[in-house]
Amino acid sequence: MRCVVTGAAGFIGSHLCERLLADGHTVTGIDCFTDYYARSIKERNLAAFRAHPKFTFRELDLSAGVPAEAVAGAEHVFHLAAMAGLTRSFTDFDTYNRHNLTATHRLLEALKGSPALKRVVYASTSSVYGRYASGDEALPTRPSSPYGITKLAAEQLCRVYGDEFGVPCVVLRYFSVYGPRQRPEMGYHLFINAILQGKPIKLTGDGLQVRGNTYVADCVEATIRAAQATPGETFNLGGGELVTVLEVFKRLERIIGKPALIERHPPRPGDQLATGADVSKLARHLGWKPTTSLDEGLAKQVEWQKEIAR
Ligand SMILES: NC(=O)c1ccc[n+]([C@@H]2O[C@H](COP(=O)([O-])OP(=O)(O)OC[C@H]3O[C@@H](n4cnc5c(N)ncnc54)[C@H](O)[C@@H]3O)[C@@H](O)[C@H]2O)c1
Repeated sequence: MRCVVTGAAGFIGSHLCERLLADGHTVTGIDCFTDYYARSIKERNLAAFRAHPKFTFRELDLSAGVPAEAVAGAEHVFHLAAMAGLTRSFTDFDTYNRHNLTATHRLLEALKGSPALKRVVYASTSSVYGRYASGDEALPTRPSSPYGITKLAAEQLCRVYGDEFGVPCVVLRYFSVYGPRQRPEMGYHLFINAILQGKPIKLTGDGLQVRGNTYVADCVEATIRAAQATPGETFNLGGGELVTVLEVFKRLERIIGKPALIERHPPRPGDQLATGADVSKLARHLGWKPTTSLDEGLAKQVEWQKEIAR
């Protein structure tokens, strides 16, 4: 396959590029290194495959327009570029709007009418459901943050470009992804660092929030399979094992062999109370199911965080 991966220097995008290259595909990675977290971390993500002979990197901000040659000949486009994270989206709305919505528009415009194009896989989020994101794709979409609103609006743009111009889009709604290279502000990353360093974990809310997190390699496998899905389809993509945040602390204490010191804080605006994907549609259509247990995935992330701290 001739692939384009947007957000290639990010957490999930870098794993996706690596896996596509390992499978023998040709990959153009696009990223503009937003300042959401440090460029050096994204450069480190890229380093693992940047010199691969079938990989080309383009530093490009999609929201400023997508030159035709950047996507020329692409058969499969995996659109992962976005500003992630809920909290900042309340105060930095224009940036979220630009990177999540305008960027998607510019990409779809560039892809419109491309004869080579077979699929566009758009990485959406459980945040389109809002506070209670437990169930299948029929759950009502009621985002509880501007982040969720911009991601839902971008899903709708994909639908419109499918209906009006035949751009063959498939939407995947990711439910919190974890594993090596996880973004530095994400929960598991912060919990692991705090326990490793003997520092308190800032727990927002009562810790009884339920999460069904997805290991990054399982997420990548489903993303690649989605390139075979029927255009116009939307799928939930989650990890299967449902645990409370307090249970995650217990698992991490066991894996790391050190206690979790907890410092309680009030819930943040927009926080999701429960996320758990019913992934039976993904299993039915694409034969996918998660294969990494939470203990296994957490152990891999702990090892990686120890490694980068050395
Ligand atoms: N990580 C999760 O748990 C999770 C959950 C749900 C959905 N998602 C979605 O998955 C995708 C990847 O998330 P991630 O955790 O890897 O985030 P990330 O921030 O690590 O990666 C996103 C990358 O996109 C790049 N980018 C942003 N705007 C761009 C633009 N206009 N042009 C070019 N590049 C741009 C950033 O520089 C970054 O490297 C995002 O679309 C996100 O909304 C992630």
